[in-house]
Amino acid sequence: MTRVITYGTFDLFHEGHYRILERAKQLGDYLIVGVTTEGYDQTRGKLNVVDSLMTRIENVRKTGFADDIIIEESQGQKFRDIKKYQIDIFTVGSDWVGHFDYLKDYCEVVYLDRTKNISSTMLRTQSKQIQRIGIIGTGRIANRFIPEAKLVSGINTQGVYNPHMESAVRFAEKWKIDAYKNIEDFFDAVDAVYIATPHETHYEYIKAALEHGKHVLCEKPMVLQRAQAEELFPYAKERNLILFEGIKTAYCPGFAQLLGIACSGMIGNIRNVEACFTKLENKASRELTDFKHGGSFTELGSYCMLPIIKIFGDKFTEVRFDTINGDNGLDLFTKVSFKYPNGIGTVTCGLGVKSEGRLLIAGTKGYIVAEAPWWKTTYFEVHHENPDDIEKYSERFLGDGLRYEISDFLSMINGSSRSEFKLTRSESVVFADVMERFLAENRSQA
Ligand code: CTP
Repeated sequence: MTRVITYGTFDLFHEGHYRILERAKQLGDYLIVGVTTEGYDQTRGKLNVVDSLMTRIENVRKTGFADDIIIEESQGQKFRDIKKYQIDIFTVGSDWVGHFDYLKDYCEVVYLDRTKNISSTMLRTQSKQIQRIGIIGTGRIANRFIPEAKLVSGINTQGVYNPHMESAVRFAEKWKIDAYKNIEDFFDAVDAVYIATPHETHYEYIKAALEHGKHVLCEKPMVLQRAQAEELFPYAKERNLILFEGIKTAYCPGFAQLLGIACSGMIGNIRNVEACFTKLENKASRELTDFKHGGSFTELGSYCMLPIIKIFGDKFTEVRFDTINGDNGLDLFTKVSFKYPNGIGTVTCGLGVKSEGRLLIAGTKGYIVAEAPWWKTTYFEVHHENPDDIEKYSERFLGDGLRYEISDFLSMINGSSRSEFKLTRSESVVFADVMERFLAENRSQA
């Protein structure tokens, strides 16, 4: 009996998929089909898969060609499957020619001609109108956005707006997009907006974008007052628009895995979360000179609050701020302590003090530790009482990581609410609330 194996995502099942399965089956007597998980697809850079794993498996099953269907969830699994299922022939489409030659040591590798003019990517872009996104702001983060957005199918960066036309033109020339002098023209040209301007301008830009019927992806901290967040989310919802706070950590696969494990009971009940992020910033930078809205907490606090609020929720009984301010009154180093009935959370941020930058989650049975840069989670360990008992986890974090949040933003625009739990509206409201309390206390002291 000749045993054949093939793999794929099989999203929006199409003729190319049907034909490859049909021919794969003809190569032998028994066909195993490996269908990839969402998580695995994400880590290999395939974003925006539309169908759930169950739907994709069901579509493969319905062809009648698969004798067995398995799930492919990690790198290196193909080799193990070949051994485990005693495979004679490994096959995939000709788009992969050469890529799997390393498997020739273990079985025959056959590349079958790919069916022309059809692919899941094509169907994904055809079925949805391409979202034209415009950028407000031309700083460092805006520069990172464009190459990341290019990797997400279904979104196209249309243009940029900056009240300083010179900056807009320079940015537009660099990225070969349009520059807009007039914000009305800018809004007319786009379906969605990415806001990457100084924090204090976010509220006005978000409001204007929503008024013009545009979806909004806004850099963190989205707003600096609770009332503003409480106003903007319902305002967006009434208009059927997506308002989305861009904290990239919340959307990256490694952080999702870390949270899942933290909350799985593996380390028992969580009692302490400590998150630290420090960055030595140039003294002349906006972050260290903008008296009203700069400083370490507004700059880095969103990242550090994220694991605390995700794990313990928004019902803290007390929040306390301890800061070391520079001569101009801006916080160079900040500790925020959250007290919960059964837990403690500590944020440590620094722009003028360097620290280890670790995320630590301690529970009644063990603890999780992720070293800097844990906000781009790629690696973490689970420790127990026995110091030798350590479990190690790793995940990929591709590029600058904005692709994950852009992809989730896009799927929400396209009607899927599956990503909403990654950063909920009420969590964004709490972040704004804490920022507001912090600024009221810290800036009034100065
Ligand atoms: N395939 C094919 N002909 C096509 C499309 C896909 O033979 N027109 C094959 C692929 O080579 C692979 C299998 O079908 O062996 C599953 O591919 P998958 O990546 O799920 O499909 P694509 O349409 O290529 O998906 P995407 O556009 O997301 O890359």
